[in-house]
Amino acid sequence: MENLELEDSFSKKENSMKNVIVRKARISDVDRIFKIYSENIEYLDEESKNWLKSIIKKKSRRARIYVALKRKKLVGFIIFYKKRKEAYIDAFAVDSRYRGLGIGRKLLNCIEQTLELEGVKRIYLSVKNGNNNALGLYLKNGYKVTNIVFILEAGLDNLNGKLGELEGLKLKVDSVKKHNEINSKIKLLDTSIWSNLTWDIDDSIYKISKEEATYITIYSGKRLIGVARAHIDKNKVVIERLALSYYKATDSLITIASAIKTKIALKPKMKIRIPVDSSKASLLKALIAFGFKIINSEYVLCKDFPSIEEN
Ligand SMILES: CC(C)(COP(=O)(O)OP(=O)(O)OC[C@H]1O[C@@H](n2cnc3c(N)ncnc32)[C@H](O)[C@@H]1OP(=O)(O)O)[C@@H](O)C(=O)NCCC(=O)NCCS
Repeated sequence: MENLELEDSFSKKENSMKNVIVRKARISDVDRIFKIYSENIEYLDEESKNWLKSIIKKKSRRARIYVALKRKKLVGFIIFYKKRKEAYIDAFAVDSRYRGLGIGRKLLNCIEQTLELEGVKRIYLSVKNGNNNALGLYLKNGYKVTNIVFILEAGLDNLNGKLGELEGLKLKVDSVKKHNEINSKIKLLDTSIWSNLTWDIDDSIYKISKEEATYITIYSGKRLIGVARAHIDKNKVVIERLALSYYKATDSLITIASAIKTKIALKPKMKIRIPVDSSKASLLKALIAFGFKIINSEYVLCKDFPSIEEN
């Protein structure tokens, strides 16, 4: 009896899926995507309507939005990035009135199939602490937790220690629109897995969008030792990308923090926010000693797609 009921609810889900189609997003979808995005903002990172529009306009295979439509109504979306053999799911939501029907799973499985066909071997994503429904969905679909990212925040006025340009270090502050891509041969370590996969395509999306961000680059002689891209969101400076070389990592961090304080965060009482992978122990230690506090955490999950030969 119980089995029959289970089968019955399964086939009801499968039948209702027949009315659901998944396709690439169009510019005309942006209002509806933004509405669902805003209604789920507690689970996602703040983005503007303009930013979503710019991703669609850019038409890059490196950053894409797919949507789910049920009887022609847009009921869900997924935003993802692809870099060589890796991909990152940046945002994903289903209209709350249509949840639990299998639409999220269908969207997720569709983009997984697309990416696998394109040669992607691993998909990453992150889930905010406490979002157990999303975590359940991912675990059921073959993802495993690989890491934790800490979200660190500090009041710029409360940062300890000596801020200032350190002797021998050269600092450059640029608008993201004027910033030229840094020679990719230079090895820097990104402090969060997603910025590694997203920063360069995001730079080119900034160039066609109305959004503004600032690049800070630090050199020791001719050697690049640190990069940060900062975006102002109300009274907060959000560090979207922080990448440092092993060489003089703490010095370049101090110089970046002072550049933010003196050149970017010009209003009083501004805060600075940085996501940092839990594996970057010495950087975390330096930031906490500097006055940063952990205000939240996110689980990093991944799913592997072994190549056919490996099966
Ligand atoms: C996450 C989200 C997109 C899922 O969409 P959805 O259409 O409701 O998902 P589905 O109906 O396809 O699947 C939900 C699955 O998760 C499972 N699930 C839900 N809550 C769960 C929990 N707390 N623990 C374990 N599994 C859970 C369900 O059993 C279901 O599995 P099934 O397909 O095998 O039956 C949707 O809940 C949402 O928009 N949430 C708000 C935004 C968000 O959290 N986005 C993710 C950011 S990382």
